[in-house]
Amino acid sequence: MSNGFPKGFLWGAATAGHQVEGGNTNSDLWLLEHVAGSIFSEPSGEACDHYHRYADDIEMLAGFGMNTFRTSVEWARIEPEEGRFDAEAIAHYRDVLETCHRYGIAPMVTYHHFTSPLWVLADGGWDNPRTADRFARYCERVTRDLGDLFDLACTLNEPNLPFLLGALGLGAQTAEDRRHMPMFVNAGADLGVDAATVAPFMFTGTQEGYDVKLAAHRLGRDAITSVRPEIAVGWTLANSDIQGGPGGEEFAVNLRASVNERFLEVSREDDFVGIQTYGRHVFDAEGQLVKAAPGVPVNQMGDEIYPVGLGSTIREAARVARVPVYVTENGLATTDDTQRVTFLEDSVEVVAGCIADGVDVRGYIVWTLLDNFEWIFGFEPKFGLVAVDRATQERTPKPSAYRLGELARSYS
Ligand code: BGC
Repeated sequence: MSNGFPKGFLWGAATAGHQVEGGNTNSDLWLLEHVAGSIFSEPSGEACDHYHRYADDIEMLAGFGMNTFRTSVEWARIEPEEGRFDAEAIAHYRDVLETCHRYGIAPMVTYHHFTSPLWVLADGGWDNPRTADRFARYCERVTRDLGDLFDLACTLNEPNLPFLLGALGLGAQTAEDRRHMPMFVNAGADLGVDAATVAPFMFTGTQEGYDVKLAAHRLGRDAITSVRPEIAVGWTLANSDIQGGPGGEEFAVNLRASVNERFLEVSREDDFVGIQTYGRHVFDAEGQLVKAAPGVPVNQMGDEIYPVGLGSTIREAARVARVPVYVTENGLATTDDTQRVTFLEDSVEVVAGCIADGVDVRGYIVWTLLDNFEWIFGFEPKFGLVAVDRATQERTPKPSAYRLGELARSYS
């Protein structure tokens, strides 16, 4: 122990396969990025070509003084057709994980980070209860082939995100919503299915969607631990600091219950919970989102920069989930890296405050290593500790990368 931080505290950066690897052609989102009427501002294309450049990227991360890398394995690569597991993809991920160990980096592996194989989408996606069993079979296989190389596993990334987006009036959450959106209509036509059944993970915010994700998490976790009981398993959640403005208090209480607490309660069965916080959402008496006040510093999406929100979400997670907490994502979209440096300093102080109060926080993992493909927003938002030249793929570390390393050293 030093500065109150527990020994073995994890410091690192997170990535997700589809956002950095490039060429994830068998995935559901690849199709949605390319159909007419796509709500994705641009396709992921070769992204950061991390699929080929991972060794340099991991070496760079270690060079900053990090000791962990949260990475994801792509279901669409590992099981491109139902029941056919791809030896080359598995060998690839073995190499990624072995590279981590070569550089003294402990990998934390996410089994599902928003993307699924196209064949899953063609058969009802995340509204189809069979997806949970299929996910569990994939978890079992991944753990059998790769599980000797990591000790921390995240089943699903942000199963609660569609519910948060729904409250914000964003995205299409129901089958009926999808029927009216050209992207889903065209994807459905391509797959030969009704648009209503085109249900990707990010766009399923109904009770059915909740049930399928919950079943997938539980079955996935049991599959992982049946192969390798020593692996600590949890899911990672989108934890906004949900607040009520004047008159909006009750709305906020209810929303916290359905978006945050309901999922954190599930984590009581798990070994840990991963929390992912990007700030706060304040709601007024009508349940409408209150925009950042004029003059308040905002991120690239126009949302208030609010590092203290992390303190509330860490405490909420610890209180409700009653298991160890890892901050598995926290970061800032900005083209001004001095803002990110301050944000990281403030956030680490917030984590230190929680630890000083006795909260069991075991890691601080920043979103994200590289400027990457930010889903519907394309490559515009810059969350990275490292800039990536889109034409040459050249990496340029930003001062915030080194600052995070210094912070890690000063608390270790
Ligand atoms: C996701 C990431 C995403 C990040 C920033 C989280 O919701 O897990 O994949 O890029 O937020 O928007």
